Amino acid sequence: MGERYAVIGQPVAHSKSPWIHAQFARATQQDLEYGCIEAPLGGFTRAADEFRDGGGKGLNVTLPFKEDAYQYCAQLTPRARDARAVNTIRFGTETFGDNTDGVGLVRDLARLGADVRGSRVLLMGAGGAARGVVGALVEAGASRLTIANRNESKAREIATRWRISASGYEALLPEFELVINATSAGLAGESPGVPPDVLARAKHAYDMVYGRDTPFLAAARAARVPTSDGLGMLVEQAAESFFVWRGVRPDTAPVLRELRGR
Ligand code: ATR
Repeated sequence: MGERYAVIGQPVAHSKSPWIHAQFARATQQDLEYGCIEAPLGGFTRAADEFRDGGGKGLNVTLPFKEDAYQYCAQLTPRARDARAVNTIRFGTETFGDNTDGVGLVRDLARLGADVRGSRVLLMGAGGAARGVVGALVEAGASRLTIANRNESKAREIATRWRISASGYEALLPEFELVINATSAGLAGESPGVPPDVLARAKHAYDMVYGRDTPFLAAARAARVPTSDGLGMLVEQAAESFFVWRGVRPDTAPVLRELRGR
């Protein structure tokens, strides 16, 4: 029997991670098993302990447990500390927490030809999803990075930490090449409120949500701006987690192609 990994979340039944990691394992000839753990709210620590005590080697952590996982880990990578959230746990003599969401986003953008380096980038949202990626966007070398949020003070808090600009939506100017939606508005079928001219002037609009056509993506399409959902980011962050656990970097392109075709 191979070493055991799992994704833990609530809900988690429809997670694509088990399928993605099974493809990675097959392609790289790694002997592992990857399952799903649905933990009750407030039950993260117990479920993670049980999995580790049963011989589990690592976990992916999804909503709503990324901050619980951050508290849980004895050792954190700088990118997990910055995000105050953990999406990848490796069990060993110590419990090690990482966050691969930011690198996943930046790699997916590069794949799409929407490179961050030298671009003016607008990041919308100031919750956990935005915090998880802002450091990677800074490191990727955006010529300008602005974080905008409905509640502007939350954007300002993140901006201060990273020495970038913060804004509410109304005050934004149409000056961004890349617009990234890290709000959860789309999950409620809502638009985050980016001004139409800001979106219309973009060269690419990216929604970190996947598996649904959000009002943000629909508005960008209507303005003839190329769009992407977050499916590529999902595959890229999974590949980086796989690397953290196994030291092997799987090829993401065939897995993403197959997921899109499903
Ligand atoms: P997540 O972990 O997915 O980021 P979160 O921490 O609850 O979730 O943050 C949700 C983000 O989406 C916030 O930036 C929130 O804006 P506020 O901080 O102003 O609440 C944003 N958001 C959610 N619904 C929104 C909507 N309808 N319009 C604009 N922003 C919205």
